[in-house]
Amino acid sequence: MLYIGADYYPEHWERQRWSVDAELIQRAGIDVVRLAEFAWSRLEPEDGRYEFGWLDEAMSILDRKGIKVVLCTPTASPPAWLIQKHPDILPILRDGNRMSFGARRHYCITNKTYHYYSERIIRKLAEHYKNSSQVIGWQVDNEFGGPKCYCEGCRREFQRWLKSKYKSLDNLNRSWGNAFWSHDYTSWEQIPLPIVPYHNPAFDLDFRRFFSDMNLAYSNMQIRLLKSITPDKFVTHNFMGLFPHLNYYDLAKNYDFVSWDNYPQNLENRFRVALSHDVMRGLKKKNFWVMEQQCSYLTRQDITPTFSPGQMRLWTYHSFAHGAEAVVYFRWRACTFGIEQFHSGILQHDGTDRSISYKEATRISSEIHRIAPQLEGSRLISPVAIIYDYDNIWANYAYQEKPMYDYPGEALRFYRAIKRLGINVDVVRPVDDLSKYRAVIAPLMYIVTEEAATNIRRYVEKGGTFIAGFRFGIKDENSNMVKTVLPGKLKDLFGIAIYAWDNLRERSVEVKDEEGESYQADTFADLITPEGAEIIAKYNSSWYSPYAAATVRSFGKGKAYYIGCGLSQGFYDKLMRKVLKGLELEEIRCPDEVEIAIRQKEDKKLIFLMNFSDKSSEVSLGRKYVDLITEKKLSGKVEIDPFGVMLLI
Ligand code: GAL
Ligand code: ZN
Repeated sequence: MLYIGADYYPEHWERQRWSVDAELIQRAGIDVVRLAEFAWSRLEPEDGRYEFGWLDEAMSILDRKGIKVVLCTPTASPPAWLIQKHPDILPILRDGNRMSFGARRHYCITNKTYHYYSERIIRKLAEHYKNSSQVIGWQVDNEFGGPKCYCEGCRREFQRWLKSKYKSLDNLNRSWGNAFWSHDYTSWEQIPLPIVPYHNPAFDLDFRRFFSDMNLAYSNMQIRLLKSITPDKFVTHNFMGLFPHLNYYDLAKNYDFVSWDNYPQNLENRFRVALSHDVMRGLKKKNFWVMEQQCSYLTRQDITPTFSPGQMRLWTYHSFAHGAEAVVYFRWRACTFGIEQFHSGILQHDGTDRSISYKEATRISSEIHRIAPQLEGSRLISPVAIIYDYDNIWANYAYQEKPMYDYPGEALRFYRAIKRLGINVDVVRPVDDLSKYRAVIAPLMYIVTEEAATNIRRYVEKGGTFIAGFRFGIKDENSNMVKTVLPGKLKDLFGIAIYAWDNLRERSVEVKDEEGESYQADTFADLITPEGAEIIAKYNSSWYSPYAAATVRSFGKGKAYYIGCGLSQGFYDKLMRKVLKGLELEEIRCPDEVEIAIRQKEDKKLIFLMNFSDKSSEVSLGRKYVDLITEKKLSGKVEIDPFGVMLLI
């Protein structure tokens, strides 16, 4: 079942309006609404006093129009009475100040009192709605991930977490390298939280893992509770795409499926958004929902542009093209008050059906409902995968607030090149089964564990193509540098040695490939000494000149590439064309601004063409297709409208 939905907040509007909304929602062809996301103060106005009557009424008005509901646990915004009673629920920020009431997400994730009150409201809600067939599922909380809390309770939890991981202080001191700057601990109670601006990378990595685990524990508590009371309803959470501060693989594990909040903002973000979808699909290796999809300008209306007509539709198809099963718009109607009063909705503040987004939603839902039978049950099949790994994302922060390098940015160099060939991309962990992929790419993979090394080696031996980006394998799982010659554990696989490197922030360096084509190197340079590998590109500037910039080595039945620096896009385009030869979508030729993504049901391919430009584009079709959206037969050269979409079979 595919859905088009809206995030609806009946508590923001007068009761007399609810039936008007329900009527408009139905007329737009919207079949599901998400409710009660931040409504705790209206559901439990005082400690232990519950008022569900208003929600019952709003829901029954919607029910009469056949509109289904996803209910939220309201825990992202603890009410004022709870904070007054238990101010210790408020997190302590890194500067040592307690966060104050007044925004949202103002709770310490390990606070036991908060767990108690959360469980109580969730139990009440679940019991109240367990027999409602209108409620199809739950969204837990809203956008887990922060703020990080530095209270004494969290500190004790962290110490407990470390104790169960390391067992002895000797072990911890050794693993963290606490000989450095006299950091040895002689009792667990001495261990601080990472408050000082620079701290040990090993300590930093464990704190990130700990923070992620605490979110996981709180999330799992909610899932268990909901599943015990309403086992027939799905439970999901709204993730945030490339958000780096939680291990999303772990977090996703116990949800029925992943949902995420998609705010593309600008057309320039299209590859980042595409990759985000693929990351979201990769968490459970299954299709997902978009629980909040941008419909026009955002809260910072001074910065984010209003969508031109057609863009809301384009981004919606983009979501479906990458594996969405439902697209729910944020939000039904622009609110007249509160922090997000400048944020657009499907309806503007005036509540009339004259908004651009309302017209567009109506068109989208009628199209999607018409093509749903073809789309349902289809999924993306990808012959190539990019490794996306949270320990590696975190190791890149080293000891600072900001990462050294842009991890998704490094992935995107390859990603863009692959997408331009009309090829789908999966996102995987280093220890996942890689055997089904023609090629696997690992940008910025600092940490290579024993298990990952074995997995990658076996993959290449059996015929896979593995492509590493710069700084591969420089660290162990404690975020300490390895003692061996780089690239560490897989040095023999690549057939290279790296004894020197440089960052390229201030240096302009040329690289030439085998055919003599020239590229600009950027960001970082591993200066490669081949030891059995073939050189595919060489540095051609200053003292780098004796070194290779990129190499390939045959290993077993496969190949291992090492790309030692950041390079201009043309390099990746050429490389991926070569590596993925024979997999490109031969029969469709598109200009750069048109993205191709393919869903597949058995042997039937559903090909999405999406024009990310405000001008019409020409695509050329090597055989006859039918566009499922217009039901027109197409072949040869065809025009695709500005922001237009085709769904070809
Ligand atoms: C999301 C959030 C929503 C709303 C929206 C505004 O991240 O989940 O509640 O704040 O941003 O763009
Ligand atoms: Zn805390």
